[in-house]
Amino acid sequence: MTHRIAVMPGDGIGTEVAPEGRRALEAAARRFDIALDFETFDFASCDYYLAHGRMLPEDWRQILGEFDALFFGAVGWPEKVPDHVSLWGSLLQFRREFDQYVNLRPCRLLPGIKSPLAGRQPGDIDFYVVRENTEGEYSSVGGTMFEGTDREVVIQETVMTRTGVDRVLKYAFDLAASRPRKKLTSATKSNGIAITMPWWDTRVAAAAEHYPEVSVDQFHIDILTANFVLHPDWFDVVVASNLFGDILSDLGPACTGTIGVAPSANINPEGRFPSLFEPVHGSAPDIAGRGIANPIGQIWSGAMMLEHLGYPEAGRAMLAAIEAVLDEGDERILTPDLGGQGSTQALGRAIAERIAS
Ligand code: NAD
Ligand code: IPM
Ligand code: MN
Repeated sequence: MTHRIAVMPGDGIGTEVAPEGRRALEAAARRFDIALDFETFDFASCDYYLAHGRMLPEDWRQILGEFDALFFGAVGWPEKVPDHVSLWGSLLQFRREFDQYVNLRPCRLLPGIKSPLAGRQPGDIDFYVVRENTEGEYSSVGGTMFEGTDREVVIQETVMTRTGVDRVLKYAFDLAASRPRKKLTSATKSNGIAITMPWWDTRVAAAAEHYPEVSVDQFHIDILTANFVLHPDWFDVVVASNLFGDILSDLGPACTGTIGVAPSANINPEGRFPSLFEPVHGSAPDIAGRGIANPIGQIWSGAMMLEHLGYPEAGRAMLAAIEAVLDEGDERILTPDLGGQGSTQALGRAIAERIAS
């Protein structure tokens, strides 16, 4: 069976790391005899917007809906297109229209990488952020009144639905139940955000009843961010609303040394629509064009994609290759965010060679 993969490199370093992700995937496909058929698209990029006045072709749902998975780099170039236009015109459309309601973001201190947190070793930081990915604080409900006057009012609603919250909680509890520690932490803010978040807490409590084997705790988001830094070893599976999950999934990887390694899977668990795999980071205009972006977040996202497609062994081999290359610690290969002088391509090639061997 051939799996069709749509590649959308996007903008900035997305165009530099996506080919390394593909190189690693091709190596894994050869080794494990998996048939992958890649097709690369130039849409979902700011240059496409400048040429066409939109981020995606009108029939993007039909085009992309036929693929088995979407492999995405990063989008956004605020000097060309305002961020809310480029992101709401592409990535956020995919998440919503393809009902990718789980954003799964592993956060793991890998061997050979020094955590900025004193004394932390691999094993001390190893958890998942499960981020609600289609509703919550990311809503288009709201508007502006009295625009341009001193009475200007701007409103954007948080929208939470029982279906939407319960389904992501179920995913998070299932994940926690499958892990040795069986621990779930809920990110809340029910002291201050006094309608949606107390209700979120009640849905967590209701879900917990179905999982007596999972130990559950919750923190308000403010102290939770502090505890990510002070006690990252406390966490196993952290479930969060869309915005809280977004923030936690940059903070967590920063605690593991660099956000350049962090992967994510935007999953439609029912498989009705293709899921999307992308690094957590963005297009990084500050380093784009220099060939020094860390490709590991993209490659690890590829590993998650193979796992999703039914090849857990191949996914594990990709991660093992990442770990082996990091563990060797060759500064000529490692990218600057890892303390080396290497390039995106040198690191990507080293990992692909390791996967192949
Ligand atoms: P960013 O993640 O692009 O960059 C933040 C910092 O991390 C920068 O200093 C950057 O150089 C560094 N960094 C990021 N990825 C790296 C890598 N692989 N290797 C080494 N260093 C890396 O976040 P930002 O600056 O807030 O956003 C830049 C643009 O990307 C904006 O347009 C933003 O909207 C967009 N963005 C897109 C996505 C996405 O496509 N999923 C995610 C986040 C931000
Ligand atoms: C992410 C990004 C996006 C988000 C932005 C670019 C809209 O930060 O994937 O984490 O907020 O979800
Ligand atoms: Mn983010």
